Amino acid sequence: MNLKEALTFDDVLLVPKKSIVNSRKDISLKTRLSKNINLNIPIISANMDTVTESAMAISLAKMGGLGIIHRFSTIEQQVNEVLKVKRAENIIIEKPFTLLENSKLKDAKELIEENNVSGILIINNENKLQGIVTARDILFEDNYEKNISEIMTKRNKLITASLGISLEKAQEILHNNKLEKLPIVDENNYLHGLITSSDIFKIKQYPHSTKDNKGRLRVGAAIGVKEEDIKRAQTLLDAGADVLVLDIAHGHADIAINAIKRLKKEFNFELIAGNVATKEGTEDLISAGADAIKVGVGSGSICITRLVAGSGVPQLTAVLDCAEFADKYNIPIISDGGIRTSGDITKALAAGASTVMIGSLLAGTDESPGFVINKNGMKYKMTRGMAGVAANLSKKSLNGKINQEDVEDIVPEGIEAMVPYRGKASEVIKQLIGGLKSGLSYCGVDNLQDLKKNAEFIK
Ligand code: XMP
Repeated sequence: MNLKEALTFDDVLLVPKKSIVNSRKDISLKTRLSKNINLNIPIISANMDTVTESAMAISLAKMGGLGIIHRFSTIEQQVNEVLKVKRAENIIIEKPFTLLENSKLKDAKELIEENNVSGILIINNENKLQGIVTARDILFEDNYEKNISEIMTKRNKLITASLGISLEKAQEILHNNKLEKLPIVDENNYLHGLITSSDIFKIKQYPHSTKDNKGRLRVGAAIGVKEEDIKRAQTLLDAGADVLVLDIAHGHADIAINAIKRLKKEFNFELIAGNVATKEGTEDLISAGADAIKVGVGSGSICITRLVAGSGVPQLTAVLDCAEFADKYNIPIISDGGIRTSGDITKALAAGASTVMIGSLLAGTDESPGFVINKNGMKYKMTRGMAGVAANLSKKSLNGKINQEDVEDIVPEGIEAMVPYRGKASEVIKQLIGGLKSGLSYCGVDNLQDLKKNAEFIK
């Protein structure tokens, strides 16, 4: 048998070349996530239930990357996380929270507290604007049975704007009138949306964030290959998910190929598919219609696939092989798993990946789901493989009670682990970006496209 040699990140270094950059500011990290979605940084967070829900996705999208909401939850829970990201930043909130004018004060209090918003627009049953109630209005109120119209600021006192107002003009009106909220109405007073000063502030604060064409942060969501995932896909897309990730451990399989074909026939959307680790796997998923390929089998820090199944391809070789093929079709590759340092990111991108997916490195941050644990004077958070025992059990428990047989059926391909607590995700990402930019400088390039072309590995 002619055994092919394969390499992983630690087996290689990038040969230093004459630098062409004077400052890291001159380096561009713009890249492609999938056929039609661009990012300003090449980092996405893993669809793991200890890594990505809305908080992580918001943080990454603000920095120019993207988060993929995990699917280890009910459709409603997953959709809710997508909606939280889509609502986090807007030029215009198209569907602001509203109440009818005959509602009680307690309804406003509930809506404000449940959704963590600072005000509710009051409408009549024709969707015409009648007033506004803010959190401040109800702060010291003790009779929540009062009718809302008694305390709302009435329509004749409200400053509003018309459809099509520019961001600059809206900012001017909000500033000049010391306002927080600017309802958008048409000439007949029908409500069409809301612009808030905090949204405008966020837009200015994060100029490189990943946005859709309505100015909302972009977000991805994971789905599986089962029949019921068609409904999950539909609901996620309706909620505004920008990209779906068809994610199974062994993506080079008929079930994945058929699912891609069916989904692409049914809906018009951007689909990332995986995971694969070979040129053949890449070819089959691209032929089926995938818009980006996720590469990595057994590469993750919490994976034991290589131990349990004896299968996998060292990650650098996997990316080199898959990217060489995918390049011909102009389809981006995502290197998924095994990123421990910014140097690993530089190597994955130099090998041909357009982005990297990160799990455990982000699992220890404030924005990942779960609690900070104190142990022997150190702080940790938990992470777990999505094919591990614990994740399998919580998935099964979504469908009702689990019994002994369910437990015995599990052959885990992932483990549970504690990772060091690392503070804010944005701080971790900043370090990774800084390191990656240094990596580009050492390779004698100032952008990721040239990195792919010019990088020279040494074994
Ligand atoms: P890192 O190294 O960033 O890897 O933590 C994240 C990726 O690991 C994959 N993953 C798994 N692989 N068994 C596996 O073989 C599992 O239980 C498992 N859970 C996650 C996944 O591709 C993720 O993005």
